[in-house]
Amino acid sequence: MARIFSGIQPSGELHIGNYLGAVKNWVALQHTAESIFCIVDYHAIIAAYEPAQLRIRRHEMALGLLAAGIDPTVSTLFVQSDVPEHTELAWIFNTVTPLGELERQTQFKDKSQRMESVSAGLLNYPILQAADILLYRADRVPVGEDQLQHLELSRVIARRWNAEFAADEAYFPEPQPVLTPTRRIMGLDGQSKMSKSMGNTIGLLETREAIWAKLRPAVTDPKRIKKTDPGTPEVCNIYHLHKAFSPPETVEHVAVQCSTAGWGCIDCKKVLAESMETELVPIRSRAAALREDPARVQSALDAGADKCRALARETIRGVRERMGFDG
Ligand code: TYM
Repeated sequence: MARIFSGIQPSGELHIGNYLGAVKNWVALQHTAESIFCIVDYHAIIAAYEPAQLRIRRHEMALGLLAAGIDPTVSTLFVQSDVPEHTELAWIFNTVTPLGELERQTQFKDKSQRMESVSAGLLNYPILQAADILLYRADRVPVGEDQLQHLELSRVIARRWNAEFAADEAYFPEPQPVLTPTRRIMGLDGQSKMSKSMGNTIGLLETREAIWAKLRPAVTDPKRIKKTDPGTPEVCNIYHLHKAFSPPETVEHVAVQCSTAGWGCIDCKKVLAESMETELVPIRSRAAALREDPARVQSALDAGADKCRALARETIRGVRERMGFDG
């Protein structure tokens, strides 16, 4: 049976970019393959952080994922730092990863440019990501578009390690990405990818009022200045959000109303807000129930960590054997 693995940083907010690019797909795929989902807290510490906040964010992310529909009775949800083999395998992979491959990573180049002092952790970040995936020998990795380069590196690492230590067997499979039609959600500024660090997000658990306060001023087609100007739906971020949240008939209607100036942008946003409510209300109400019962969240994570520790130990045993560390 195919095995799926994916991860998310406990960054403090599960936003609709995460949801549409990855998590919604996790929820669908968990019924089709053995699925493991990881809250990657070791990845999250490459930027300065408050230890007390990290604890809260880990719990909040788990709660958000369960509310979004991850079902711990069919898939496995756990916290990366509960399974120490992730960092053990990352160290081993450090020794087979060419430095040039790391320096070429777009995320490293972008982030390091904005930093005064760059840590080795930022450079080595994708090696830990490869260790996450390969530790469970996963075949498929559902992610948003921004993770494709990291995933390509995971395949390079698998290939290199296999060539070096397991020449006649593919000990580590080369993991393939699984994308959604909404693989890159833009932020409300319409300029850059939706991301917590850009401050342009809509949180999956935000209230109807909070979402409307963000949607109302959100950037649309920049050429549409007056209500009577016809718009071009394809260049409008709100139209793309309609495609993600509204039924096909509504999307078609929106496109006609926009391009004939039948609706103003606020009319269009009101319809989007309604479509979002339809999808988000059940998620919000599951989140409210989980907030009343934090032990349920913790016990899902504990069970997930138990299961993953056993799987991880097994893989590491094979790695140690092939690398000459046993006996
Ligand atoms: P992270 O925490 O930034 O994001 C989690 C998932 O959400 C997707 N995503 C988006 N998709 C579409 N549009 C957006 N605006 C958007 N923003 C985020 C991401 O592509 C991702 O799938 N390095 C990873 C975490 C990680 C990981 C792993 C992922 C660590 N180990 C192993 C897969 C497998 C990251 O920072 O994701």
